[in-house]
Amino acid sequence: MTLLRLNAVGHVFLGRAVLENVSLHVDAGEMVALVGPSGCGKSTLAQIAAGLIAPRHGQVTRGYGRSAFVFQEPRLLPWATVEANVALGLSAHALARSERNTRIAAACHQVSLEEGDWHKFPSQLSGGMRQRTALARALVGDPDFLYFDEPFTALDAALRRRMQDLVVSTVSNSGKGGLFITHDIHEALRICHRIAVLDRSGHGILDCVAVAGMPGSRSDEMIFETARRLVSDHPLFAVVDEHDERRLA
Ligand SMILES: Nc1ncnc2c1ncn2[C@@H]1O[C@H](COP(=O)(O)OP(=O)(O)O)[C@@H](O)[C@H]1O
Ligand SMILES: [Mg+2]
Repeated sequence: MTLLRLNAVGHVFLGRAVLENVSLHVDAGEMVALVGPSGCGKSTLAQIAAGLIAPRHGQVTRGYGRSAFVFQEPRLLPWATVEANVALGLSAHALARSERNTRIAAACHQVSLEEGDWHKFPSQLSGGMRQRTALARALVGDPDFLYFDEPFTALDAALRRRMQDLVVSTVSNSGKGGLFITHDIHEALRICHRIAVLDRSGHGILDCVAVAGMPGSRSDEMIFETARRLVSDHPLFAVVDEHDERRLA
C-alpha cells in the first residue's frame, strides 16, 4: 500500500520556481530519506506532502490516516509545560484523562525526558530537551505517517543516536511510513529504507537509492562504508555533503 504519492509536484515562491516535476512515493512500512543541497526545496516539499502548503503544480495523494510533523526547530508553545505541549499531539483524540496521562508519560519516557522535567516550560529546557518534547508530541498520537525535517540537529551524538533508534523502532513492523529530511548521510543510512536525492535546484528527484538490509539491523561498519562509497562514487551525494551548512559553519 502506498501511503504517500507525489506526482509531478511543482511550486513557485515570489515568482521563482523552487520545485519542478518532483515525483516520489512512500509505501507502508517504509521510511524514505530526502537529501539534497541546502536551499533545493526539501522543507517546501515535505510541507507540500503534509498538506501545509498547497502546491502550484502536480498532485499529492495521501493513503494514511493521521500524520505528525517534527520540524527543525521545536515549535513549542512557550506558555505551556512539557506535558501540555506533548498533550497537543492528542488534541484530535477523545481519551479519558487517565489514558491521556498514561500516553503522555509513555511518550516522554520514550524520548528520555525525565519526570522532573515534565512540569517545566520550554524556556527552562535545553535545546535538545525542547526538540525531544517536539518528538514526543509527534509520537504520542500514534500517527500512521511521520514527517521529519532535520529534527536531530540540536542533539549531541549519543542522544541523536538514541532518537534515531526510536524512529526505527516506531516504524519497523508497524505499517507506518515516513519522510525523513536530513543532511547527514549516516543518519539516512541508519534510519531509512531508501534515499531520494533532490536536484540542487529542486528540478526532480535525481536518484533514489535502496539501502541494503533493514534499518536497525545495519552495522556501523556497513553504514560507514556505504556512506563513504556513496559520497566518493556518486556525484550527487558529494554535492549533498559539500553543501551541508552545518559543516561549513
Ligand atoms: N515562504 C517562502 N517565501 C519565499 N521563498 C521561500 C519560502 N520558503 C522557502 N523559500 C525559498 O525556497 C527555496 C527552497 O527552500 P527550502 O524548501 O527551505 O529548502 P531546503 O529545505 O532544501 O534548504 C529557497 O531558495 C528558499 O529561500
Ligand atoms: Mg530545510
